[in-house]
Amino acid sequence: EKLHISIKNKILPTKYLYDDKGSKLFEDICNTEEYYLTRTEKSIVQKYAKDIMAASSAEEFFELGSGSSKKTKILILEALKYRKKLTYTSFDISKKALEMSKKELKTISKNLSIQLVKGDFINDLKNIDVGKDRRLYLFLGSTLGNFNNQMAISFLYNLSKIMKKKDFLLIGIDKIKDHDVIKSAYNDKAGYTEKFNKNILDVINNKYNLDFEKNNFTHSITFNKSNNQIEMYLKSKTKQVINFPNKEKILIEQGDKLLTEISRKFNDKTIKKIFSNSSLKIRKTYFDDNKYFSLYLLNSK
Ligand code: AVJ
Repeated sequence: EKLHISIKNKILPTKYLYDDKGSKLFEDICNTEEYYLTRTEKSIVQKYAKDIMAASSAEEFFELGSGSSKKTKILILEALKYRKKLTYTSFDISKKALEMSKKELKTISKNLSIQLVKGDFINDLKNIDVGKDRRLYLFLGSTLGNFNNQMAISFLYNLSKIMKKKDFLLIGIDKIKDHDVIKSAYNDKAGYTEKFNKNILDVINNKYNLDFEKNNFTHSITFNKSNNQIEMYLKSKTKQVINFPNKEKILIEQGDKLLTEISRKFNDKTIKKIFSNSSLKIRKTYFDDNKYFSLYLLNSK
């Protein structure tokens, strides 16, 4: 992979945030006071679990980027009230996330069979077994927000193509709200987001044999108002040179900002457009009282 080109463009590939340590740090972020996303989405799942299961009549679950599966557990418990057998597949890029997921779910019922699949949902989705049963795909946490418009549409369109007629997709979407509320979610006082952001340098150093120094960067968050997105950067404290094993050198100036993640916030219109361009149909919409977050139940029929 051409990492030097992306560094020259001042972009680091977001997926490298999620190694084992990054997945654990993300879990810590989810438990902070500032990060409203997880608890808000969880409250919606709790409130509407019965309705979601009734509307989808899922016979099996397939979760993309499952992390610890804590929110999905609520739906699994609901489904097991009515079903003798249920299969849950956790698909995640990090082994640690798969382990956390297994740990969270393994004791809940002997009727639940758990499958762990390690993969990257951009490249490896085409190889998954689509199954015969009525499947509920889950894509929670507003992970879709990490994709620009074009990537979001192609990802969801590809997913719609592997969905059988009777399958559903439950997707979690973070909505536009007060910008300070959004920004502080990415700047928690305890510093987990900062650690999470800087960890990408360790991952890249290991993978590409590079010499990024974490202490030469600061964690920087901006809210881009024209795109309605959080942009997470590593800002260089000094002028520095990154040495590649092939002797290529990349110069980074003081104040240069390397983009590590975008996290888009949607309004109804923008998200509906993405769904319709992906040939997905909204069957149900759920949200919290503040309208901070939405869950959409979709199918490809
Ligand atoms: C897991 C991608 C949904 O964008 O809010 C949290 C990742 N980055 N804090 C998000 C994240 C910084 C998170 N997603």
